[in-house]
Parts: sequence; C-alpha cells; structure tokens
Amino acid sequence: MVMILKERVIENRIMGDPIQMLYKMVISGQAAQTATPGQFVHLQVADSNEPLLRRPLSIAGIDKNTEEVTIYYKVIGKGTELLTRIKENEYISVLGPLGTGFTVPDSGELLLVAGGIGIFPLLSLIQAVDKEKVKLKLLWGGENKQFIESAGLIDIEKMGVNLDMSTLDGSLGTKGLVTDLLESYLGDNTDTIAKPKDNGKQNLRVATCGPKGMLQAVTKICLGHNVPVEVSLEERMACGIGACLGCVCTVKDLEGNLKRKRVCKEGPVMDGKEVVWDE
Ligand code: FES
Repeated sequence: MVMILKERVIENRIMGDPIQMLYKMVISGQAAQTATPGQFVHLQVADSNEPLLRRPLSIAGIDKNTEEVTIYYKVIGKGTELLTRIKENEYISVLGPLGTGFTVPDSGELLLVAGGIGIFPLLSLIQAVDKEKVKLKLLWGGENKQFIESAGLIDIEKMGVNLDMSTLDGSLGTKGLVTDLLESYLGDNTDTIAKPKDNGKQNLRVATCGPKGMLQAVTKICLGHNVPVEVSLEERMACGIGACLGCVCTVKDLEGNLKRKRVCKEGPVMDGKEVVWDE
C-alpha cells in the first residue's frame, strides 16, 4: 500500500564545497519504519504553479529507532532548488517509501560500485549489511577530490567499509574511471569469484549505482566475470507508484523475451543481466 506521509524535516543543509550543490536532508516520521535499502521517496516541493510537484530521491540512511530517513540530493533544476528552501521543523509530504530495493546478502562478499552521486543509495545498503558476516568493499569514482569530500567522504570512511576511489583528474585515489578499479579488482580476485559456496550461492555479488553508461559498463564487466550484479536505475518519474508508465524500461527474461518494467515499481534496482541497455 502506498502511503502519503507528513514527515518533519529535521535537517536540510548544504554539504562541503558550495560549488558542488550537494545537500543532506533528514526527515523524521513513519517512512523509516518500512524503508529498505535502494528504495526511494517521492517528496513534494512547494511550488504555487505546480502544487503536486514531487521529486524522487533515493534513501541513503534508515534509522528505525529514531524514525529518521536520510536523503542526499544535488541541485540540478527547479524541483531540487525548491527543496533547498525547506527549513528545519517544517513538514513535507512524502510518498513512499517506494520501489524495489537491493538484495541484502547475509554471507559472502558484496562489492559496491558507485559513480558520482550514485554513492548515496548504496549508503543505505552499507548500513544494512551485517559486516561480521559479509565482506564489504566499495569502489567509488568521482570527478575530483572536491566532489568526493563534499559528498561525505569522512562519514563514509567511518561506516566500516573498505574503500578504493578514483577521480577523473587524479586529485584523489587512482586517476581514471571507477570501471578501471572494478576491472582490476575482479581480475585480482578470480579465486573468490570462481568458487560457489556449498549452498550454491556465488561468493561475490555486485551492487551498483551511477550514470547509465557506467551501469552498462559495470554490468558488462561483471557478467564477463560471471558475477551477479544489481543495478539501481534512474529514470524520469512522474507518479512514482507504477500508474503513469512514464518510467518503463525494457528487460529480457531468461527465455529471451522482451518485457517492459516500471523503474519506479519493479525497480529502481534490477538484475543487471536482464536490462536491455541499448533500447
Ligand atoms: Fe509513473 Fe513509474 S513514474 S509508472
């Protein structure tokens, strides 16, 4: 059942270098009770011309005890700009939590591959994984050091995840693309990949989020190494609840039949191998 909630905004502030236009918002209320990693919330932004204007934003943190959901966003247009104007202690209309999120493994190794602000939905997965039972590794690529630091590097390092980074200009981590890091990581860990566990599950699985071209490249690399990969897709969304069909993408089932899936409902997280990337 889709819920429209009134949640209290307890934090809404710019992060790091203002040029990056990255914001952190924490909302308090019922959404935290049912939210799972990889889901999103559809937030209403105040606009007198378009009273029903909403923006879908990934859930980056879930605290069921304090009933808080953390969201990060980059200002990229009118909707997100209006979001920045919401003040602490104001109430906001929240549709959700919505969509199908990531699988949370309970054993083996989880490799997370993030491109730019694609790091944010993966944070909720890092938070949810039992780090005593699952080996976690994060590969994160960004434009430069200023971006990575503004996007919360210090806090991410405190989350207990082993992290390798790449930047386009080499100002932090390895110079190049995050897919370069992925290629070399999978190349160095072929033993882990090749041995299924006793229960037949693969030891290593990948979860990724970032620009579409990067997701396609990550999927290709993972499938080339026989590693299962879940991708978090981004599409323009209107209703966010599976009704308008404005967010459909094409997938291929095991028999090779083409089907349409709604990114807001069956996704945003999907099995990388079933996504038809070049539609
Ligand atoms: Fe309407 Fe997905 S946004 S069906």
